[in-house]
Amino acid sequence: MAKLIIDGGNHISGTIKVSGSKNASLPIMTASLLTDDELLLNNVPNLSDVITMQELLFSLGTEIYFDKDLEVLNLRAKNSHNFTADYEIVRKMRASIIVLGPTLVKRRIAKVALPGGCSIGSRPIDLHLKGLEAMGANIYIDNGYVFAEAKNGLQGAAIKFPFVSVGATQNIILAATLASGRTTISNAACEPEIIDLCVCLRKMGAKIIGEGTKELSITGVSELSGATHTIMADRIELGTFMLAPAIAGGEIYLEGAGLGQEINYIKKLEEMGLNFYKKDGTIRVVRRDDKIKAVDVSTSPFPGFPTDLQPQIMSVMGLAEGTSTITENVFENRFMHAPELNRMGASISIEGRKAIISGVKQYRGVPVMASDLRAAASLVLAGLAAEGKTIIDGLHHLDRGYQNIESKLAKCGVNIYRAD
Ligand code: EPZ
Repeated sequence: MAKLIIDGGNHISGTIKVSGSKNASLPIMTASLLTDDELLLNNVPNLSDVITMQELLFSLGTEIYFDKDLEVLNLRAKNSHNFTADYEIVRKMRASIIVLGPTLVKRRIAKVALPGGCSIGSRPIDLHLKGLEAMGANIYIDNGYVFAEAKNGLQGAAIKFPFVSVGATQNIILAATLASGRTTISNAACEPEIIDLCVCLRKMGAKIIGEGTKELSITGVSELSGATHTIMADRIELGTFMLAPAIAGGEIYLEGAGLGQEINYIKKLEEMGLNFYKKDGTIRVVRRDDKIKAVDVSTSPFPGFPTDLQPQIMSVMGLAEGTSTITENVFENRFMHAPELNRMGASISIEGRKAIISGVKQYRGVPVMASDLRAAASLVLAGLAAEGKTIIDGLHHLDRGYQNIESKLAKCGVNIYRAD
């Protein structure tokens, strides 16, 4: 199994081009199932999750051409008779469940393997299924698969989510674009990736109002056409790299992203001691003082602090001056990186959904194991600052969400390489 070796201690100094957003690419790719025309996507990151989604769409009869160098993805869903998303593919990526809505509304039948849980939580899909049932789908679960039918198509419905779910909001939006009548979603997710999906669907002819707010309205149309869309920058990759100078010192120049309202976490990063300068499409990030200040973080759905940056900021807080707390309100088990950070010398204690982090002087480079995607990113950040070699195992997690992270960081003066 490949491992990432980081010989820490160097200051960060260099430029990184941020890739397109994984969490915007995945739902937008499934929009290709809603039309017989070509969907042309630019700024698509070459990540294992994106490749897995391509495998899944191919198995559902979609023609695919992906130019990894140009980051351009062409999708054209043939009106295939296949409506089954096999477990062999779904087990690799939980987000596969968002093919359910578009497949069901277009082909009036869908069979999707139940996505397992993962290390950060049980990840149920009850909100997805209840929403589609409200739109007239007959759904039952058997032998590890969700079976869904809508012989007369789906009808618009008034759907109220008891709590925010990004995936469930995406599945219902996708299904509602071709349902008959109007669908309203209350307590919808407001994440920037939802907005990007709606912008792409509108280019395809969908009638959507309210994206980015908690109240969405989608009026179904008879068909959607193809479109060309450029995927938004990955705000979580951006935030991860912003934290590199925070933990290792120095400065980083980030290209390919802006400081729009989707970068809502920047206030917290300024509070901890980072300065940001924007010039001609490049963001310069530099740590103000020698030590980062302790800050308290509480994750919540957008516009709250993103849960997907929580493991990364915990690494930084581990070396801050003072004691910080992190409260994880979105997932029930998203502190798996804490014991690994403690192995590196951090002083983190967990009490239910709260982590208490007492800043220490130094991390030690030791072998560590990544448990999930963002935990892997937090260990990379810790390795940048650690004394000695950090050896990170479990790279398949990292490769799901970060394209060429070692070459990006090596260009910034980090002594990092991948060893088989
Ligand atoms: C999306 O996951 C992201 N994944 C996650 O990013 C992100 O952490 C999450 O949204 C929250 O922002 C993609 O976009 C591919 P949810 P999703 O449905 O849609 C519970 C990363 O690191 N829930 O908003 O699966 C659920 O268990 C990944 O890039 C139900 O109980 O998240 C969780 O506790 C990790 N029933 C909470 O809601 C449901 O039917 C939020 O989950 C659906 C969700």
